[in-house]
Amino acid sequence: MKHFNVIFKPDGKEISIHAGATLIEAASQAGIILNSVCGGKGICQKCVLQLEPRGQRVLACQHVVQNDLTVTIPADSRFFEQKILEHGIDRQIKVHPTVCKRYLKQRLCHGNPKVLEANLNKASSNQVHLISSQAADQLKQLDLHTLSEGLTAICHLDPRLDDLDSQSNTYTVRSFERGDTTGKIFGLTVDVGTTTVVAKLINMADGRCEATQATINPQSQYGDDVVNRIAYAKTGAKLDELNSAITECINGLTVRLCGQACIDAKYIYEMCVVGNTTMNHIFLRLPITQLGRAPYEAFSLDAHDVRADELKVEMNPAGNIHTVENIAGFVGGDTIAVALAVDMDGAEDVTLAVDIGTNGELVLGTKDKLYAVSCAAGPAFEGARIRCGSRAAEGAIEAIVVNNGDIVLDVIGNCAPRSICGSGLIDAVAVLLDLGIIDATGRFIEPGKVQDKLPAAILSRIIEKDGQPAFLLAKNADGRAVYLTQRDIREVQLAKGAIRTGFKILLNRFDLEDSDIKLILLAGAFGNYIRPESALRIGLLPHVPVDRIRFVGNAASSGARMILLSRQCRARARQLARKIEYIEIAHEPEFQAVFADSMVF
Ligand code: FES
Repeated sequence: MKHFNVIFKPDGKEISIHAGATLIEAASQAGIILNSVCGGKGICQKCVLQLEPRGQRVLACQHVVQNDLTVTIPADSRFFEQKILEHGIDRQIKVHPTVCKRYLKQRLCHGNPKVLEANLNKASSNQVHLISSQAADQLKQLDLHTLSEGLTAICHLDPRLDDLDSQSNTYTVRSFERGDTTGKIFGLTVDVGTTTVVAKLINMADGRCEATQATINPQSQYGDDVVNRIAYAKTGAKLDELNSAITECINGLTVRLCGQACIDAKYIYEMCVVGNTTMNHIFLRLPITQLGRAPYEAFSLDAHDVRADELKVEMNPAGNIHTVENIAGFVGGDTIAVALAVDMDGAEDVTLAVDIGTNGELVLGTKDKLYAVSCAAGPAFEGARIRCGSRAAEGAIEAIVVNNGDIVLDVIGNCAPRSICGSGLIDAVAVLLDLGIIDATGRFIEPGKVQDKLPAAILSRIIEKDGQPAFLLAKNADGRAVYLTQRDIREVQLAKGAIRTGFKILLNRFDLEDSDIKLILLAGAFGNYIRPESALRIGLLPHVPVDRIRFVGNAASSGARMILLSRQCRARARQLARKIEYIEIAHEPEFQAVFADSMVF
């Protein structure tokens, strides 16, 4: 097949790609991730590139390569490295993982697996050890007569056995290492978000976090939200593509983690992966098309334990990869990890855990009863479908306050503002409501009706854009403006309406009011950067005193660490999966009425 060269500027990257490929595929091959909110359908207009030398603007997802090309990537089309939340609450737990190492001195090293099993069982009472056939084969390769330094057995708790709390356990010996390597035992936690992936290297001996790395989920090039990715993966080959993207991403993060901590990846024996149900299924390469149509059912709600070599993950090939249970089609193991990390199963008072992303996942209740919902907030809070919106990347307005008769902006990277991200949007809408520029229905008030009440600087910001009222947030030296239109306000209203509907339906299930919630725990990157006062002002959160709102950071990663390090926590996660009852809000009889009511600011 004919191939052409494509040069990407300003990166200076050059690749060769087959005729008929799209520019978005070419960019991906060059390691450049472009915005693709609509998943390459040509609808969102976020993937614009300029063809040189004339600067003709084309959609990368639609433009087919038929000759050598040089293209320039405008800053807005690039999927920026966004602010990624790496840290979460660090709960003290007793380290008692499902993997351990047992050292056998030279005199106990016999090539016969049965003798070795007997020696292992003698050395640790109440424990049963079974040597796997692969480990037995490996034993034959090791010349045990010359093995003066002894042997270390890598023992994995048998995941089929339900009682993780028991003192007496059955271990499968999956591999052996020469000498005493008991001091080298590591694990990984991976939080696979729709947008970002956060990985941590954990010392399984003492629970310490040795290194953290994060990156954008490379599946973003196939669509910004799970709906677009499900639509993309309609064939096995496409699902494979998404699966390879996340596997390679995790492998890349592992290389960086090992480099940072100076360890060899072969000493990583256990990995705990959390993510929403779609991310979980793509990673395990389970069917996902049913997640895209009613009744949106998961193929599997179970936890899975899979050998690393089966998933092509680069750690110890005999190592175990544990994926946490899912709750429903749109509420996955990351929600269980959050609930575990914030102790929802021990909550005496009514507690609401909130994780807002493209989907908002909410869990409400006490230790006695927990309900979860998923709210299709849409990507507005991630900047999509907002005229000047973007993710929380450099140049994005992330906070807005009124001061001295005008607005003051906080811009990520302290540079000239070129967009607005989710936290900035919430602030902006709160400010517009406070100033009376928009009313409770979200409609812009006619400027004539507010001109006597507003300072001149603010009044001058009320403009018109394409026939719609708009509010000018910033105008840069190059004449480029960042503003909010009436339609943008409607998008925010829809997103907050979806979240509000979620917690209202949860409260109705318990017959409670907003004020009955004693604690709101905001998890995830978005939650961590919003100002609670603004979120309360626009009705994104239940009306409670602001001191009842706490940020818990990347609680999904914290929960994953607990599940990695403690078999008791793994058992609790399993119990939580059974305990948290999922409510499909669209099926609730009061849904329409609650949603209409929730749209009001
Ligand atoms: S228009 Fe190209 S990805 Fe949406």
